[in-house]
Amino acid sequence: MLLEQALEHEQIRIIRGGRTSITIIVAVHSTALGPAIGGCRLRHYSTWQDGLTDALRLAAAMTDKCSLAGIDHGGGKTVAVLPAGPLNATLRTDLVRDIADVIRSCNGIYLTGPDVGTGPEDMRIIHERTGYAFCRPTGAGGSGDSAQATADGVLAALLAGAEHVFGTRSLAGRSIGVVGLGNVGRYLTGLLHERGAELTVSDINDQGRSDASTLGARWRDPVDILTAELDILVPAAVGGVLTRTVTPRLRWRLIVGPANNQLATDDVADLLDSRGIVWVPDILASAGGIVHAINIEQHGLTEEQVTLQIAAIGGTVARVLAQARTSSLTPLMVARHQSRERIRTGKTA
Ligand code: PHE
Repeated sequence: MLLEQALEHEQIRIIRGGRTSITIIVAVHSTALGPAIGGCRLRHYSTWQDGLTDALRLAAAMTDKCSLAGIDHGGGKTVAVLPAGPLNATLRTDLVRDIADVIRSCNGIYLTGPDVGTGPEDMRIIHERTGYAFCRPTGAGGSGDSAQATADGVLAALLAGAEHVFGTRSLAGRSIGVVGLGNVGRYLTGLLHERGAELTVSDINDQGRSDASTLGARWRDPVDILTAELDILVPAAVGGVLTRTVTPRLRWRLIVGPANNQLATDDVADLLDSRGIVWVPDILASAGGIVHAINIEQHGLTEEQVTLQIAAIGGTVARVLAQARTSSLTPLMVARHQSRERIRTGKTA
């Protein structure tokens, strides 16, 4: 299975960092539309093979994400397989340098960006050493943190989803559960609160419990929130939350969020569909960050122009959901098909 998945990729580098001995994986899934882009993830995995599996799936998802967002880039990803426990500051600095060495060795077929465990400051360091990183701090010539733009894109996708499912874009009184209070989750919770949603939030980190009321939300433990009976679920943490086991117990009407690879396996899309739960594929909903970074840094657009591009994610979601409904395909199948068509023909659907 892993080998099969690996063979779908153009290039995979698995390198033990010279300074840290930490395993660093750079997966380049496709460069058909342009150099691959994808975030740099620092995370603990039990084995490096688990890290590889994650990198491969994440890189493949980036190919579809770029294609669907009309971006002329392919998909890639960096995963650093962290040992268990906290990472001390010196080791972390060395690791970012090790990662930069691997990215430099890709000679421009892969450009990185922030992801789980990394941020603009890391991108500054990687850019300084390679020239191949998005989202450096604005003061250092980059477009800065992509979290707000990602959240704006999720909101656009969520409103399109709400219109499709409930017949209205109004979120007043709508019950919404946000799982994961990282930068994107927090910002999004604020946006949903402003629109009058009834919010429940959850995070693996207990700190969220005290933050919940500041965010205007109720707190619920991570183990219970998934099976709560609410209208909309927003997965905003790491992937794999929607499994074959949990899906039969879900009671949401709509699922849409920024987490990458929300489905543990692709067949969960069919299961969700058969239960009448509308799932907006994460390859559509999470594109705000890359749309922002690419358009600011490569195309020189203004923030106002980029806002329109991010809002356009809503239109794409609406079209995909409508097509899924009329063709009785899942939204995932429709989205994947559109993505592959663009890669094949160079034309957007
Ligand atoms: N984490 C971002 C994503 O998954 C990665 C990224 C952001 C890459 C911005 C490039 C620019 O989409």
